[in-house]
Amino acid sequence: MIKICGTGSALPAHTVTNDDLSKIMDTSDEWISSRTGIRARHLAVEETTTGMSVKAAEQALEEAGVKAEELDLIIAATLSPDHILPTLACEVQAAIGATHAVAFDLHAACSGFLFSMNTAAAYMQSGVYKNALIIGAETLSKMMDWNDRGTCVLFGDGAGAAVLRELPDDGTNGGLKAFVQYSDGARGGVLACGNRPVCHPFASHEPENQYVTMDGQAVYKFAVSTVPKVVTEAVEKAGLTLADIDHFVLHQANQRIIESVAKRLKQPMEKFPMNLQDCGNISAASVPILLDSLNKNDMIKANERIVLAGFGAGLTWGAAVIQW
Ligand code: COA
Repeated sequence: MIKICGTGSALPAHTVTNDDLSKIMDTSDEWISSRTGIRARHLAVEETTTGMSVKAAEQALEEAGVKAEELDLIIAATLSPDHILPTLACEVQAAIGATHAVAFDLHAACSGFLFSMNTAAAYMQSGVYKNALIIGAETLSKMMDWNDRGTCVLFGDGAGAAVLRELPDDGTNGGLKAFVQYSDGARGGVLACGNRPVCHPFASHEPENQYVTMDGQAVYKFAVSTVPKVVTEAVEKAGLTLADIDHFVLHQANQRIIESVAKRLKQPMEKFPMNLQDCGNISAASVPILLDSLNKNDMIKANERIVLAGFGAGLTWGAAVIQW
């Protein structure tokens, strides 16, 4: 069985409330919180994507009782690494001393942690690797246009990690039970961010917008229509019903999206934990940070069933069912 054996997380020390934002741009706590549920976010000042990832990774390894040298795989999901090269996963590998691991980044935006976990699980199911470190980490604050109040108020910074192990079956039928994942590049323009243009002695292109742009209403409609379907599909694939699920740990983009998903799935809001009030949307980091806070606060009991679901730019979306 493939099991999450440890979790960890790290958030920047500096908290910025909606009222703080309203002092520097034309917005208000009422506008942001009524449309999104977000009241504050942590923004990196001294922290880095790699530094937060290392902290989260060390916590996850400690809880799992796994030494860094025992890792054979590190996958880091991020859209905001500190450097283009080397990759975040390789920087973490060096910092923790995971000398026997292969390390690489996986970029699937807000579905990144989920897709990384599924990728690690596929390696494990085929017998290639046994001990994996999965990271979701972002400093999204540097990807935002701070003159665009429609996007910059939604996002935050932070990192989460989990240690995934292939263990002998202990008779509980636990661990990862099923996953499904999708993408639709044809709709990718609704949530985008440009890169550096081609510029060399033989060609020079106009620079693209290097900050995140978003059609908020299109993204909202995408999320509320696809997430209930993908969650239902994953649960059915696991041979379970929605009533069997104890916690739905969804990507923390927007409280209204989560409420709409709960309503469409006919499940009570108590099953949908949230940290977006204090953290905003941290893309690939939001699911592992929330999972770690549930784990650390003893809010998940042994054998409880959890759905993890991600959705975002690409477009990408997916869900996994795990038994704790
Ligand atoms: N403060 C105050 N006013 C703001 C604002 C802000 N931070 N941001 C936008 N506005 C204004 C707009 O300029 C617009 O004004 P206008 O009517 O005078 O042009 C008005 O508020 C309505 O903007 P609109 O974009 O239509 O609002 P909305 O009701 O669609 O809500 C979102 C915007 C972003 C909250 C909503 O679309 C949403 O949550 N979408 C999903 C986004 C998401 O989760 N993305 C990440 C997925 S991974």
